[in-house]
Amino acid sequence: MPISHADRLTRLTALLAEWQGVWRPLPFRHRRPPWAGHLPGLEQALLALSDETCDRLQADPFVASPLSSWLPVVELGELVALPELPAGDTDLPGPWSQHVGGRKWRQIEAFVSRLAWSPGQSLVEWCAGKGHLARTLARWHGTEVAALEWQPLLCDEGQALADRLGAAVHLQPQDVLASDAARWLTPDTHVVALHACGDLHVRLLELAAEHGCALTLAPCCYQRTAAEHYRPLSRLGRDLAGRQGLEVSRDDLALAVQETVTAPRHVRRSRERAGAWRLGFDLLQRELRGRDAYLPVPSLAHGRLPGTFAGFCRWAAERKGLTLPASVDWSTVEQAGWRRQAEVRRLELVRHLFRRPLEVWLALDRLHLLEEAGFTVELGTFCERDLTPRNLLLRATLPARTCGTRTPPS
Ligand SMILES: C[S@@+](CC[C@H](N)C(=O)[O-])C[C@H]1O[C@@H](n2cnc3c(N)ncnc32)[C@H](O)[C@@H]1O
Repeated sequence: MPISHADRLTRLTALLAEWQGVWRPLPFRHRRPPWAGHLPGLEQALLALSDETCDRLQADPFVASPLSSWLPVVELGELVALPELPAGDTDLPGPWSQHVGGRKWRQIEAFVSRLAWSPGQSLVEWCAGKGHLARTLARWHGTEVAALEWQPLLCDEGQALADRLGAAVHLQPQDVLASDAARWLTPDTHVVALHACGDLHVRLLELAAEHGCALTLAPCCYQRTAAEHYRPLSRLGRDLAGRQGLEVSRDDLALAVQETVTAPRHVRRSRERAGAWRLGFDLLQRELRGRDAYLPVPSLAHGRLPGTFAGFCRWAAERKGLTLPASVDWSTVEQAGWRRQAEVRRLELVRHLFRRPLEVWLALDRLHLLEEAGFTVELGTFCERDLTPRNLLLRATLPARTCGTRTPPS
């Protein structure tokens, strides 16, 4: 029998709470993982993994995992197995993909084919960027779409594009967090949001629950939130988290979106180098300061990494007010950084195992917020993970008779 949404949320809350001491610590901060003493043999087993096995487990943590001797791999795998939402027969004309990046276009195709829109519903895109999704929907359904976006430049560019292509899209400069954003939502509205970040989609969910509009949402970047601590949105989520003692900070939320399968190879290479250099600097600073403790170094935008390891260490030391010795064997320290990175990558696999469960838990909390407000909600995937790891979709409608202005959920 398929597991109900409530049971799934209940089990995920229990497992995330039980194993928080394992998935929360960041391995690069600690010489030894804080859980090593409680799970004898796990650290050694991870460190002994080959590069191939490590890559395989990163890509799919739930299949043939040696971690299952210590961790609830099988149950987590079952709990994150969500159905692919059925797609309609939507064969969008190829030329419509012009002006949209290849991967984004395929996401739009997948999204549009899963949108259960009824003629009569007015369409609104939430956090639209240049309104690529809105433009596609306007052309496909032959209807007007309002696309809300706060950046005036994106609105101007998106409007010019829509006008040129004859799409009935109205790019509306709108801060969706402002109080007047509610005016876009009525019981006859269907709001779509593709990758609206943290507070932006939470605002949409709360307004939808209040105003009773239909909703198709692919959430993204859960950690982009003003609150430092996550308060579950649904009553069930709050109740379960409270009873199980699950506490999720904004930093923890970043785990849910850590997977970067879509980054181009050169970006991944550069990230790897930056990671190894940071770990090399960390070894150096522990020695210099005579303190075996992690020292956070500010992040650097992609492309701003100094050209050499020595250059990176000088930059980092300056940021942290440290004086480097006159002579350092840079090559030896850099190699130690790369070795440390290989270890950290393996130790990270325990966090990796809980990444999708945390993301599904957050999606289920959103689903329950809507169900508690009377919606019928479906949750599933809308595209393959290699198109975007943020491939969960919520589809929510209210039974017609309950439409109208609604009482906000508690
Ligand atoms: C991750 S992008 C998604 C854009 C588009 N939906 C897509 O999938 O390509 C998020 C968009 O939200 C917009 N945004 C950020 N804060 C906003 C706010 N407070 N009100 C409206 N739009 C906002 C950003 O400018 C950006 O265009």
